[in-house]
Amino acid sequence: MRIVVLGSAAGGGLPQWNCGCANCRRARAGDPAVPARTQSSIAVSADGLRWALFNASPDLRQQVAATPALAPPDGALRGTPLASVVLTNADIDHVAGLLSLREAQPFALYASGRIHAVLEANPIFDVLDRDRVPRRALELGGAVPLSDAAGAPIGLEVTLFPVPGKVPLWLEGGRPAEELAGEAGDTVGVEVTDGRRRLLYVPACARVTPALLDRLHGADLLLFDGTLWDDEEMVRQGLGPKTGPRMGHLSVGGPQGSIAALREARVRRRAFIHLNNSNPLLAADTPERAAAAAAGWEVASDGQEFIP
Ligand code: MLT
Ligand code: MN
Ligand code: ZN
Repeated sequence: MRIVVLGSAAGGGLPQWNCGCANCRRARAGDPAVPARTQSSIAVSADGLRWALFNASPDLRQQVAATPALAPPDGALRGTPLASVVLTNADIDHVAGLLSLREAQPFALYASGRIHAVLEANPIFDVLDRDRVPRRALELGGAVPLSDAAGAPIGLEVTLFPVPGKVPLWLEGGRPAEELAGEAGDTVGVEVTDGRRRLLYVPACARVTPALLDRLHGADLLLFDGTLWDDEEMVRQGLGPKTGPRMGHLSVGGPQGSIAALREARVRRRAFIHLNNSNPLLAADTPERAAAAAAGWEVASDGQEFIP
């Protein structure tokens, strides 16, 4: 199984277009300790020929252009190795890239029923003609082989499972914070296997539950929500009023953070993904990066390939 990180940053990327925070300034200046990052997405393949995209970020066009394995096959006038797309929530950083996949290209679009319902309610996504781009709803907890638009399996099996999260920012509709957790299927993690190796991809997660720990057990690779180092970092840096819990993201550091909560999880390799530009983990020279590394965590970077 090949896993390519297309985008390792959270919504906004690094640098974010309008942000002058320390990380964004360093990335903009080309500081090698703070490489630029595009928004949240990975691509996975069992055979290196047919690929599944997990989340479609607003930076998708740039990500595909930077990834030789995703170029149109030799000799094809039109074509793509991308056979399937799987969504883990309906946040803008995970669905806006669907609009870049227009151009009459067949692929199969997989998500939970709840996520599909958001797309159904937005006619702009009808630019993906359903005859070419079948929408397939996945039951939570059931393992399903991924297929291309024509129904040919691509050698990967996926299981979507609910994780604590939040409704998409753009669908909050002014509701009070305590009503934003959403329902099962609004935010999912995904387990991906080629029959030999097992990847757990969880780019958004508000809490580590016993069910999540059970599912992680024995995985070859975990790619986990690394949005914030601590709940208050955006507030402290003057970037805005939002805390980690308000955004539906479990922070990495501290006694309640994901490093601590996942310490007992038995996974072979673990890396943070979906990092917000405020996160000190983004800089290679911070004590937070050293602490994460000491706890066995990597920070996924754009273009990085994992072969678990
Ligand atoms: C998130 O991960 O919290 C969302 O992507 C935020 C956003 O939509 O900008
Ligand atoms: Mn996001
Ligand atoms: Zn910034």
